[in-house]
Amino acid sequence: MIVFYINHFRWQNTFVTMSEWYKTWFDSEYYHLLYKDRDHTEAENFIQKIYQYLTPAPHALMLDLACGKGRHSIHLQKMGAIVEGCDYSENSIQHAKQFENNALCFYTHDMRNPLPKKYDYIFNLFTSFGYFDTLKEHQQTLNHIYTGLNDNGTFVFDFMNIPFILDQLISHETVTKGPVEFNIVRKEINGTLQKHISFKDNGQHYTFTEEVAAFRPDEIMAMMKKAGFAIQDTFGDYALSPYHSTHSKRFILIATK
Ligand SMILES: C[S@@+](CC[C@H](N)C(=O)[O-])C[C@H]1O[C@@H](n2cnc3c(N)ncnc32)[C@H](O)[C@@H]1O
Repeated sequence: MIVFYINHFRWQNTFVTMSEWYKTWFDSEYYHLLYKDRDHTEAENFIQKIYQYLTPAPHALMLDLACGKGRHSIHLQKMGAIVEGCDYSENSIQHAKQFENNALCFYTHDMRNPLPKKYDYIFNLFTSFGYFDTLKEHQQTLNHIYTGLNDNGTFVFDFMNIPFILDQLISHETVTKGPVEFNIVRKEINGTLQKHISFKDNGQHYTFTEEVAAFRPDEIMAMMKKAGFAIQDTFGDYALSPYHSTHSKRFILIATK
């Protein structure tokens, strides 16, 4: 029986604490299996919409921050941009590297650290924020994004819409993906949204927990403004419909430097 929901454990020769759940879960094959429907088609449709909205100059330099396996980076580059994707997960970056070309590259990076160069656009998509223990680390991440943009640069931030998610919270769910039946329990605890995921595969039991800060849109906007950003627009889904606090699934924010 393998249980990852303990305070400290060893993972790929380093000790991680439970509060650092994102170091293991996103690096595991099971994360990619559970979310396999959040795929290239979803990414391609969204990128086409956002590109039409942003109308970037040809060959604008873009960063997909916390790019995972690079599904959005690939489509941003196909639209004509020069794109870099970075992520903490070495396995995801390793996978993404097969798509590299002279206008697309990937590197590992912890978003809590300063960016290595300046970009015209930075994207942080599909709830790739809210993982850290302290507000300070989240603010620091946004500060680094601000500093990592060229003057007049644009930041596209896509988070879950917490008021809607909490109102519609499905507390228990069983999801079958391929050979695996995932049992999912969701709870709001102390300002975080916790998702306990347990399943059995090849005779082994596994348990992972996602824990994401339940930042409400007004809290996100306050952090953005503190970093120096001007809020340009908000949207409520990947079709870029207007944002409504009670029925939008996403909170997509466009901020400028
Ligand atoms: C929900 S996934 C989204 C991935 C990708 N944006 C997508 O839409 O497929 C969140 C991503 O954030 C990455 N991540 C978590 N903590 C990070 C950190 N400190 N720095 C950079 N990336 C991080 C994870 O490895 C994971 O790939």
